[in-house]
Amino acid sequence: MSTDVSQNLVTVSIDGKEILAGKGELLIAAAEKAGVFIPRFCYHNRLPQVGMCRMCLVEVKGPRGFSLQPACYLPVADGMEVVTESEKVKKAQDGVLEYLLINHPLDCPVCDKGGECPLQDQTMAYGPGESRFAEEKRHWEKPIAISDLVLLDRERCIQCDRCTRFADVVAGDALIEFVGRGDHTEINVFPDRPFSSYFSGNTVQICPVGALTAVPYRFKARPWDLSQVESSCTTCSMGCRIMVQSSQNELTRYLGLDADSINHGWLCDKGRFGHEAINSSDRVTVPLVRKGDSFVETTWASALELIASKVPSSRSAGDPDRIGFILGSRLTNEDIYSWVKLAKGVIGSDSVDSQLGDGLKGEVIASLRRATINDAVSAKAILAFTGDIKEEIPVLFLRLREAVKSGWTKMATIGTHKSSLDKLSEVTASVSVDQLQLLARELMRESSRFPEITKLFENQGVGADGDGLVVLLGRENLAWDQSVVEAFALELSRALPKAKFLVTIRNANFAGSIDLGAVPRLLPGRLPLESASPMMRQKWAGLPDRAGRGVKEMLSAALQGELDVLFLVGSDPREDYVDSVLANSALDTVGFVVSVDTFLSQSSAKADLVLPASSFAEKSGTTTNLEGRVLTLNQKVAPKGLCRPDWAIACEIALELGGDLGFGSAAEVLDEIAEVSPLHWGLSWNRLERSAAIEGMMIPVSATSLSIRPRAMLDEISTPGIASVWDQGLASSKTTYVETSTNSEDDEPVGEPATQTVAGMVEPIWRLAPVQPLGFMNLAYSRKLYSQGEHLRNSAHLVHLVVEAKCRVSGKTAEKLGVSSGGSVLISDKAGGEGQFELEIDDSVPNGTVELVRGSFSIPGFSPVRSGETVNYVKVERA
Ligand code: SF4
Ligand code: SF4
Ligand code: FES
Repeated sequence: MSTDVSQNLVTVSIDGKEILAGKGELLIAAAEKAGVFIPRFCYHNRLPQVGMCRMCLVEVKGPRGFSLQPACYLPVADGMEVVTESEKVKKAQDGVLEYLLINHPLDCPVCDKGGECPLQDQTMAYGPGESRFAEEKRHWEKPIAISDLVLLDRERCIQCDRCTRFADVVAGDALIEFVGRGDHTEINVFPDRPFSSYFSGNTVQICPVGALTAVPYRFKARPWDLSQVESSCTTCSMGCRIMVQSSQNELTRYLGLDADSINHGWLCDKGRFGHEAINSSDRVTVPLVRKGDSFVETTWASALELIASKVPSSRSAGDPDRIGFILGSRLTNEDIYSWVKLAKGVIGSDSVDSQLGDGLKGEVIASLRRATINDAVSAKAILAFTGDIKEEIPVLFLRLREAVKSGWTKMATIGTHKSSLDKLSEVTASVSVDQLQLLARELMRESSRFPEITKLFENQGVGADGDGLVVLLGRENLAWDQSVVEAFALELSRALPKAKFLVTIRNANFAGSIDLGAVPRLLPGRLPLESASPMMRQKWAGLPDRAGRGVKEMLSAALQGELDVLFLVGSDPREDYVDSVLANSALDTVGFVVSVDTFLSQSSAKADLVLPASSFAEKSGTTTNLEGRVLTLNQKVAPKGLCRPDWAIACEIALELGGDLGFGSAAEVLDEIAEVSPLHWGLSWNRLERSAAIEGMMIPVSATSLSIRPRAMLDEISTPGIASVWDQGLASSKTTYVETSTNSEDDEPVGEPATQTVAGMVEPIWRLAPVQPLGFMNLAYSRKLYSQGEHLRNSAHLVHLVVEAKCRVSGKTAEKLGVSSGGSVLISDKAGGEGQFELEIDDSVPNGTVELVRGSFSIPGFSPVRSGETVNYVKVERA
């Protein structure tokens, strides 16, 4: 949000030294780049400037000589003369600091910011040393809880306006504000309106004092107790860059890192505070084998022997099609590759999948022209046909919101029910399944039957071939089968050959799963199964000779008694598969279920063997975000108990079966990925770590992107708590922001770069929507940020945020049902399963539709979505 920097350069003199700066750049930023640090409190490079604190006053020469001006508010101009160190500047800094400390409680020993506080540091560096203020300071009750996650100590606030600007301008949740006047001015929330924003933790991160503190971090550590590594959040597919901090082998805090292409320093609260689950004492830490109705602990050796006794080691020893693998979203690329190699390259089964009925077919995604996040935010126009981005990929919502509010792009949203994107959209259109085909074919034609959308896009300059259009493609309504969305995307892609698609599926590393062949019929590099290269055939000796099954087919095969062994690697189909009734009955019939997991989830609790897996921050590796950017994950703490990384578990199983995956480290797995997958050509651990790792590397890697770019400088005051841990923290495997060597000759890429990166165009297959049965209603089945799952259940400060199991209908529909708000209704699915829900009236839900939130309930025998139905309807009656 800082002032736009054009290519034109200007010359500025700072303390007598001439520097070149971008025309229009703010003086405070230009000076910093030239190595001159100007103290600041309110300035933040991602927020609009307000010039509130006056800490950045410097002398600037004007027509009447030098005068004090705020460097954070002043764009540089050619010939500008600036003095940052002078008697006058010092006196101004003394005055500002003395003033800020008049009412400051100076309770540093008991303040969470102590040791990493810009007010402490700048008082020491620039302050007068003593105060002339002898009167009683202002007092407030301290601290007060302004939300479940944030505490406010008003005495410590220096009224810098950072939290308010963030909440209003960036998040759009203007729930924290200045109230009162004069010396009664305080920061606070509105009465009866807590600071319940998905992004509240960002205000804690950017508050330059200890006025805003996070409940989960309160009194946990000082910078000198901590060490840190850079990593990427894997709670959703955005891949926000984070600093992971720990003390005494326990994770203490995540802070957002400013990656320009990704998260701009912001995190959502679910990602930020998710570290508590990793520390949980309820983790699975030893191998467990079923004995009757319970588990007994076993050794790794016995567990591996047991697997070997159930799994045929080759095609001649048994039918590999009777072995299935369902991979989950916590896996790194290295984990995925190792398990896919075990399945397809050693055991010979192509029945590997990573989509639990809530995503899209790998081949379809692979067929679409991929858009980056930056493509989307700078597109001429966006067409959104996706789940609610704020609920599913929250920081992407912030990026889109910024783009729309800044006028960089305009958006149209289509779907069945309201979402947070509606407020950002110029046009919102309700569509039926049968209208989608027309929409896809006619979108940019004169004859379009959706003239409002077509006109918007034409006005924005979108070409008749879709040039300039980015489609956000996800699962807008899980009551519609994924084939509906797939057919729409393929049809649109054919009609508009220059439109690009940003696939907005929430699950972390769904992109890595597809890129690395964790779907039937594909191999690493998105290559079709039958097009394995000779090198691949040599490394993957047991390659299947026929296509395998996806999750739905595996579950159906299980019911037919055709699945002997099922590996669940970080996946929990009993809870997460969209048709929970099918998943539960199918899993009950599989002969032998091995679950590789971090918790006893619904699925692992009923498995025959549970293998304890290392969690996030307990292993290193890479992940691929939704736009195809490969990002590093660094280990910070030792794995709990006997936990092992998933890739290593795959290696152990392969050895037990007489195969050898050939890896001794995650870096070696990545090397092989780069060798066999044309899509990953050029990637290496060294290059990712040494290069502008904060941004990761987009795949396919182009020859030019192999060159190493310098890292951006860190503004220590924009995110207090990172530089202080470097300076004072424990020795750690910290990565640095200093410019690194550009010598990349020691890891020259092997293999061949991508020439073909997609698996070929897939034909759209349209299925007609079934006629709505009499007495049944439309179902809007969506997701919320805080829906159930092991991650939330084991995060002490997030668990109580889990969304309540309610159904929502409009007032008119409620009237028809004869139920008032708070009353009970019985919802029946098409197969006769029933669930009772409290009714809530919400007029944003269309009449005749009932809205249910996936992950807010778990009712045996009831699943509002049944596998195989193009559109799911439900019956709603007064209970
Ligand atoms: S609470 Fe913190 S961020 Fe907000 S105005 Fe006060 S000092 Fe600034
Ligand atoms: S948006 Fe996603 S990746 Fe970013 S912090 Fe939230 S959960 Fe993590
Ligand atoms: S007025 Fe410039 S940093 Fe606050």
